[in-house]
Amino acid sequence: MDFQLTEDQAMVRDMARDFAQKELVPRARKHDEQGSIDPEVFGILKELGFWGFTIPEEHGGAGLGNLELALLLEELNAGCASTGVTVSVHNSLLGSPIRRFGTQAQMEQWLPQLATGDRIGCYCLTEPNAGSDAGGLITSAVRDGDDWILNGTKIFVTNGAFAGLAIVYARTSTELKGPKGISAFLVPMETPGVSVGKAEKKTGIRGSSTTEVLLENVRLPASALLGEENRGFPIAMDTLDGGRIGIAAQAIGIGRACLEASIKYAKDREQFGSPIGNFQAIQWKLADMSTRLDAARLLVHRAALTRDAGERVTPQAAQAKLFASTVANFCADECLQIHGGAGYTDDFEVERLFRDARITEIYEGATDIQRIVIARNLLA
Ligand code: CAA
Repeated sequence: MDFQLTEDQAMVRDMARDFAQKELVPRARKHDEQGSIDPEVFGILKELGFWGFTIPEEHGGAGLGNLELALLLEELNAGCASTGVTVSVHNSLLGSPIRRFGTQAQMEQWLPQLATGDRIGCYCLTEPNAGSDAGGLITSAVRDGDDWILNGTKIFVTNGAFAGLAIVYARTSTELKGPKGISAFLVPMETPGVSVGKAEKKTGIRGSSTTEVLLENVRLPASALLGEENRGFPIAMDTLDGGRIGIAAQAIGIGRACLEASIKYAKDREQFGSPIGNFQAIQWKLADMSTRLDAARLLVHRAALTRDAGERVTPQAAQAKLFASTVANFCADECLQIHGGAGYTDDFEVERLFRDARITEIYEGATDIQRIVIARNLLA
């Protein structure tokens, strides 16, 4: 077992760290306040090749793996979690399923545009009555000659406001029940009948876009079907195995930002005639944050490396997300406590980190769903 990153992996991490510290840290508060990411950030992400990070080189991407993506996402999220989730969803939830399940023609059509960020991806699974029970979705796809006609409402779609391509999960069989009768479709967002609905006002990651996507008599050619008819749900779940590693990496990034802010404050802030970092009560908090973050990172890197080895990582990804998201919230809570009353105001970034951390226990499968996935695997 090798705990060292290769030279190339360390280079990826350092490049991502440099970008995040220079370009994201100074903008994170602004992104949060304005409710969007600065347009120039999209351009820099393009120049650095981060949109096409995991897209194969023959389709214009960097062809990197899940471990490198986890390294990238930890750094981006340590700088700005809104930017981090935007890149994570694009790479993990759209680039990945096209690469893993697409035909040659689908890959040639879509991957180059995703690699440059000329089209940003979004993932449309959740519906008003199908959240944790994703297999209960009712968006319909009905055949009309060779075409498909889609109708339905998707919610909580990350990147919805500016996405150019969506993967949409829709019911293609009324006889097959639950997760069995669902198919996956690649839907250009400019297709007539597709519109972006309500933009959510969120507790955290406010700079990222979260919207409804409405589908009204959306006509798609047969070539829009990704994978086999009625076999879309396993694609959705396989995709989330990768996505959950990305959100776990996000959680580590946010948690690490909390630890770094705590260390700084512990050195700067004096009480009882001494920097508060001299008190064991503070030292123990820092030690626990750092230890849990390292443990979470090991789980994330194990899941990423195992997926890169071509194995199914359903329980490993769920463990990584379950643990890392809990650690992020622990770190945010301890960081706020170390900052005391000042941390409860927007004078310090911990207030934002505290809000940003919370979502990691909710999206791409809530904490209790991860426990179900892990337990099912143990009992199978
Ligand atoms: N990989 C491949 N196939 C998988 C799989 C995986 N990880 N997990 C399940 N499958 C397959 C199963 O083998 C089964 O296949 P068969 O039809 O051949 O039997 C099929 O998928 C159905 O699986 P289940 O019986 O396990 O389905 P279920 O209805 O019991 O659901 C669940 C299981 C784990 C609860 C699932 O519904 C789930 O993960 N729910 C949470 C949904 C979620 O994470 N939503 C997040 C949306 S994205 C988001 O957050 C917004 C964003 O943009 C960031």
